[in-house]
Amino acid sequence: MTNILGYRRPAPGTQPKHLHPPYVSSITRAPSKPLVYMPHTLTEVTGPLFGKEAVDVKACDLTRQHSDEPLGERIIVSGRVLDEDARPVPRTLVEVWQANAAGRYLHKVDQHDAPLDPNFTGCGHTLTDDEGRYRFVTIRPGAYPWRNHHNAWRPAHIHFSVFGPAFATRLVTQMYFPGDALIPYDPIFNCTADEQARNRLISVFDWASTIPDQALGFQFDIILNGREATPMEN
Ligand SMILES: [Fe+2]
Repeated sequence: MTNILGYRRPAPGTQPKHLHPPYVSSITRAPSKPLVYMPHTLTEVTGPLFGKEAVDVKACDLTRQHSDEPLGERIIVSGRVLDEDARPVPRTLVEVWQANAAGRYLHKVDQHDAPLDPNFTGCGHTLTDDEGRYRFVTIRPGAYPWRNHHNAWRPAHIHFSVFGPAFATRLVTQMYFPGDALIPYDPIFNCTADEQARNRLISVFDWASTIPDQALGFQFDIILNGREATPMEN
């Protein structure tokens, strides 16, 4: 087999540690043996590619998936998907999932005592355009309690999955909101040692994408692999 040019590996500290004991689940999930270096093969550096036919054009608006609108604060979340050299990643699949405004997921494992919203499923997807841009209309998710430790609450967040040009660039991460008082206490946010890298998980309030009388705008750029990469969810 000919030599395959792999993707650059993330710089130390810019991705979450596998073992971060304050995030209790990481204790059983983290590898107990040293990692084995695996060179990227053809499978990891090519595909999968998603064409327009794989995408429901209405899936980028999470407020229009039911007969009525969901409760909560309408927001626009938009940004660009870039590679490590700041080049746009065009036509790549971006998926999101999130809790409703009350902090409840439509999922059988979520038994948080908060109401479900019959007009909110909390899942969306879209393809980036030729300049790597994506845009979602949704509602601001609520904070929710989790059982990691006594009185543990997750800051409001939106889960993202971005495929990029190859399996080796796939990123699963979480976007946070600026000024959220819960962020400094969140063990998942704090899994990433490097402060600058960690802060790339916090979106930026954005007047330019705010729609008057309609929705506030938040900007969240996502960088795949390389030194400036957005940290992966642990
Ligand atoms: Fe979550």
